[in-house]
Amino acid sequence: MDSETLHRNLRDVLSRAYSPYSGVKVAAAVEYELNGETHVSYGVNVENVSYGLTVCAERSAISTAIGLGMKKITALHVMSNQQDPISPCGACRQVVTEFMGDVDGPVHCVNESCEKSWKTTLGQLLPNRFDLNE
Ligand code: THU
Repeated sequence: MDSETLHRNLRDVLSRAYSPYSGVKVAAAVEYELNGETHVSYGVNVENVSYGLTVCAERSAISTAIGLGMKKITALHVMSNQQDPISPCGACRQVVTEFMGDVDGPVHCVNESCEKSWKTTLGQLLPNRFDLNE
């Protein structure tokens, strides 16, 4: 899928984020290979009146992908309704590590209009991470 289509899909998904408490909408897309084809799974942040139960968009996208057979994330995209691109939180970085073994795994953060974007890697986001497979 080209990045224009992926970002258009992400924008649709973003509108379905459930964030009545913070007002911060986040959507994430996880790319992965399955049976020789590239697949994309999406997720949004889901807040709760008991704030600590909130699930971030990245972990929501990863859970969906796992249910669809994803073994390894090849790329992660994060979009939010904030002016500047947001970066995955610390907890999500650790969960991404679980499924994106590659330190050079790309992470692309964009704002809703895609006018502002930031490209980084898992290795840059979480150096010296805890991972028994390394
Ligand atoms: N949020 C995410 O969905 N992903 C992140 O990596 C950072 C934060 C959400 C959680 C909460 O619903 C809102 O953003 C404000 O913290």
